[in-house]
Amino acid sequence: MTKSKALTFIGGGNMARSLIGGLLNNGWLAYQITVSDPDPEQPSRLYALDSGLNVTADNIAAVANADVVVLAVKPQILQTVCRELATTLQVNKPLVISIAAGIRSVDIDRWLGGHMPIVRSMPNTPALVQSGATGLFANATVTPEQRELAETLLRAVGVTVWVEQEDLLDAVTALSGSGPAYFFLIMEALQAAGESLGLRREIAKLLSIETAFGAAKLALESGEDPAMLRARVTSKGGTTERALEVLEAADIRKTFAEALAAAAHRAQTLANELGTDQ
Ligand SMILES: NC(=O)c1ccc[n+]([C@@H]2O[C@H](COP(=O)([O-])OP(=O)(O)OC[C@H]3O[C@@H](n4cnc5c(N)ncnc54)[C@H](OP(=O)(O)O)[C@@H]3O)[C@@H](O)[C@H]2O)c1
Repeated sequence: MTKSKALTFIGGGNMARSLIGGLLNNGWLAYQITVSDPDPEQPSRLYALDSGLNVTADNIAAVANADVVVLAVKPQILQTVCRELATTLQVNKPLVISIAAGIRSVDIDRWLGGHMPIVRSMPNTPALVQSGATGLFANATVTPEQRELAETLLRAVGVTVWVEQEDLLDAVTALSGSGPAYFFLIMEALQAAGESLGLRREIAKLLSIETAFGAAKLALESGEDPAMLRARVTSKGGTTERALEVLEAADIRKTFAEALAAAAHRAQTLANELGTDQ
């Protein structure tokens, strides 16, 4: 199905580069992909990635014959970009996939002139190393085939999950969108605690990062619930039990619940601000 599709990226920055790298690894051909970016540096860097990519600085020409348009610009300029593309996109109504954080599909649709098939996605930064987790929402105009196509595209940089109500993307934003930062914070804290117990900085850092990676890999590959894995490494009267008692006493679960609620609330506020017509 994907072999015959023409795909255009508006914005050739970090996320576009990751997605394009993933797509090329997954059998997409460079000539199928067009990238539009005003910065001449960006297309040339993409060009280095694969010399068959089509690169341009003309957004309108870039979308004219596209089957899929990926909006990969910063959220703050998405409205301007959409209004610029509206007339051209209304001709063929290609599938539009937005990866811009926080902007609702209804706002994108209005800026594009209405009745457009739009998939809104919320990827996270590990997409840059092909280990992302992306939430997806399709508006009512998206066909089953387009839904599958969007999923195939985002799966090039990690796992994907669909939500049936767009509001749930705020929860996805709070959990996996902002989530890498929570794990970085835990790594930082473990490193500092290891150092204060006498470990050299680089050793504490390596042990902290590798432990996070190993725990995630074990959870993924065993397929078991994290609660079960935790119980298994917590021997009665042992060291892990002592440490977990301290964490539970500090109400770590409640703290995470409050942190995610605050992030989801912030996502709603930002969507309201960014979705206002200029
Ligand atoms: N990075 C992540 O992990 C991540 C995660 C989730 C969602 N996202 C979303 O992904 C989107 C892209 O993020 P990013 O990290 O890839 O940003 P980025 O590296 O800044 O890429 C955006 C690119 O768009 C270009 N651009 C600016 N104005 C343009 C225009 N009018 N037409 C076409 N291109 C234009 C920028 O060029 P200049 O540099 O010259 O301005 C830049 O090359 C954002 O909306 C962000 O919210 C990113």
